[in-house]
Amino acid sequence: MTKRPIYPGSIIIAIPKPFLITMETVLKSEVGSFLKRSHLKFNLQQAMTIFLIIESEKQEESVWWPYIKALPETFDTPAFWKPSDLFLFSKNVYKKIFAALNDLQTFYNEILLFLSSCKEIKITFNEFRWAWYCINSRSIYYDCDSSPYIADTNKNIALAPFLDLLNHSTTAEVEAAFNMNNNCFEIKTYNSFRKYDQVFISYGAHSNTHLLMEYGFILPDNPHDVYELDYDEIVKVAHNLNFQYIDRKKRIIEENNINRKLVCSKEGVSWSMHAVMKILAMDFTELKNWKFIFKDDPISLTNQKAVKKMGHILLKQELLELRSVFVKFPSKDKSRLTPHQNIALNLLKIEENILQQSIQLLQ
Ligand SMILES: C[S@@+](CC[C@H](N)C(=O)[O-])C[C@H]1O[C@@H](n2cnc3c(N)ncnc32)[C@H](O)[C@@H]1O
Repeated sequence: MTKRPIYPGSIIIAIPKPFLITMETVLKSEVGSFLKRSHLKFNLQQAMTIFLIIESEKQEESVWWPYIKALPETFDTPAFWKPSDLFLFSKNVYKKIFAALNDLQTFYNEILLFLSSCKEIKITFNEFRWAWYCINSRSIYYDCDSSPYIADTNKNIALAPFLDLLNHSTTAEVEAAFNMNNNCFEIKTYNSFRKYDQVFISYGAHSNTHLLMEYGFILPDNPHDVYELDYDEIVKVAHNLNFQYIDRKKRIIEENNINRKLVCSKEGVSWSMHAVMKILAMDFTELKNWKFIFKDDPISLTNQKAVKKMGHILLKQELLELRSVFVKFPSKDKSRLTPHQNIALNLLKIEENILQQSIQLLQ
């Protein structure tokens, strides 16, 4: 809550560098000295996880204790959900969550392997999961130089105590960057806030699935929300419609990376989803000129009709499958569902809405 009005262009927060937990902080700590002796190389989030756990165990003896003490004890990301509630998601969301849970277990196993050679530290999976999601839901983008002791993937993160108390809104417009002149990480807002308003920032243009998996919440009117489609499912529909030269078409799609962002939103199917369907529906002559997809004009009347038919079959199939999940909820009465079950139900309804609108737009 702001105690005074805030005008567009104002810096709402500035955290001096010594108060940031960066790769430098981690490498200067005990974890750093263990890492320097080890032949294993972690990503920064793994190293920071160990750092947070060690510092939290020190309690008042750690300079970071006032910060650690204020961190949430648990999270609402699916990694903390009852496993049986994970079946309340649509197929593709479930697949993403399942893959993320597998990655989490792999990152933990790597830490266990590392700790087997340094007997001083013991970390349980629950401690690891807590620290991992503290970092996941609270880290900022912070450019770090490469280090021989830390893997280069995902190295540009840092924790910014106090700054990480700000919540996300889809209407927030901000710029966040390190200011070399005053040595502070700053957030500038382009919104205005009245005295006593809650001040929001933006975590990025994230879909609800992303918000749920990384931060543990969803937003009802999220303009960045999408329903993700599976490339193999799209190809399967093309097969069933007896479209020809599928292998050649798949090669074109995959070699040119067109099978990315295969999603639909309230505005209909994405450009790449449309392009993939156009290619799959092409006849022999059209396929020779497949680059016409970049012109955004219809390929031909026949192609246009085939794309529409394919889109209908695919999206209706998705809708049918998604609706079959509703019966898995333990009650039809929302008040009898747990908060997690309510999140899953709301997400399903949002996805159902997106699919329905996309189907309408195919007409
Ligand atoms: C960087 S922290 C923000 C501070 C957090 N509210 C706290 O008290 O510690 C990110 C977390 O805040 C919560 N959060 C942020 N924006 C939210 C929103 N618009 N609706 C619901 N929860 C939100 C989520 O739990 C998310 O994981």
